[in-house]
Amino acid sequence: MRAKLLTILIAGCFGAGSAMAAEKSVEVVHWWTSGGEAAALQVLKDDMQKRGYTWKDSPVAGGGGDQARTVLRARVAAGNPPDAMQMLGFIITGYAEEGLLGDLSGVANKEGWDKVVPAPLQKFAKYKGHWVASPVNIHRTNWIWANKKIFDELKITPPKTFDELLAAADKLKKAGYIPLAHGGQPWQDATIFDSAVLSAGGPAFYQKAIIDMDKDALSSKTMEKAFEQMQKLHGLLDPNYPNRDWNLATAMVINGKAGMQIMGDWAKGEFLKAGKKPNVDFYCFQYPGTEGSFTFNADQFAMFKVGKEQETGQLTLASAIMDKNFQEAFNLAKGSIPARTDVANTKFDDCGKKSMADLKVAMGKNAMLGSFAHGHAVPEAVKGAMIDVVTNFFNKGGSPAEAAKQLAAAVKNAK
Ligand code: GAL
Repeated sequence: MRAKLLTILIAGCFGAGSAMAAEKSVEVVHWWTSGGEAAALQVLKDDMQKRGYTWKDSPVAGGGGDQARTVLRARVAAGNPPDAMQMLGFIITGYAEEGLLGDLSGVANKEGWDKVVPAPLQKFAKYKGHWVASPVNIHRTNWIWANKKIFDELKITPPKTFDELLAAADKLKKAGYIPLAHGGQPWQDATIFDSAVLSAGGPAFYQKAIIDMDKDALSSKTMEKAFEQMQKLHGLLDPNYPNRDWNLATAMVINGKAGMQIMGDWAKGEFLKAGKKPNVDFYCFQYPGTEGSFTFNADQFAMFKVGKEQETGQLTLASAIMDKNFQEAFNLAKGSIPARTDVANTKFDDCGKKSMADLKVAMGKNAMLGSFAHGHAVPEAVKGAMIDVVTNFFNKGGSPAEAAKQLAAAVKNAK
């Protein structure tokens, strides 16, 4: 008798409790745990709080998101997906194909997202014409971040060619600095490869080799040049680079231990968090040979079908993310630029203004290209196979010609 009473009581509470809690909280899985990432995410948490929702934070540490994607896959397999997940490119398409993502078109159409989100980004935010993700930003991966004080001390200006980059690195090494700060993780190696391919062959070649996966382009002399660049860059690293987190490599540039880092503009979030200013404490410039081109990586939040009681919170989150004021505030902290093209650049710093201007130009000439390293160029299985070739070559060396052949073979087998 007592046990039965207790159950009803608990059910009563839980029912009442969880219905109320469920309606007013949204659980979000993401990998934004570095100083700059967390500062930017706080803008969204505060925004949801103001809208009456508790943010249930489910961070999974690990830059680039590999660990978070593994956790997600396990939760989906266990039938316990989160309300919302930070997602990139083809990952969104994959979960949409499985029919697991909620349709955000109601909010998107009411708020006119079609008019302000660039088409190359809509390719991933929409599935069969339905909005399945809310884009929070546009990151760019073909950046180099440099310590301005060291550059000024050694009379180095931002290099315009790859040879100038090597000459600058030589000066840095001779002066006792680590020329290139890097974290030895496959996604970070692949992020450099985005730029090496673009530098070696230009936007049309990147499109043909990486996005169109053309086998001749993948094994071409031009691709060999990209691997040659990777090989020379590897020579600029310090011996402690293996498995270093990206933001620790950024800190080496911030603290004057290293001269440069090749990384997406989430690195700028770390400089800003440390109170540093562009063109005062640090330089931001395009990887030599990629000026005018734009390899993009856009963070988006997709909502899983977890039940009616969560939908209002999920749609509120989707709407909050695409809010014009939020897009400005978040991206000022994150280092990226808004996914919305109608946000003014007034409050953005020189790096942000350059990225927004270059995006417009790149969009005009088909040079807004999906980042290979961050899942906007090829589907996940192909990306994984290609990254294995790239990171193996980068860390173990070998012949660039052989690496290009292996890359073509990896794509052929994984497609
Ligand atoms: C990327 C993500 C960025 C950034 C980076 C480092 O995959 O899109 O927003 O935070 O990882 O963690």
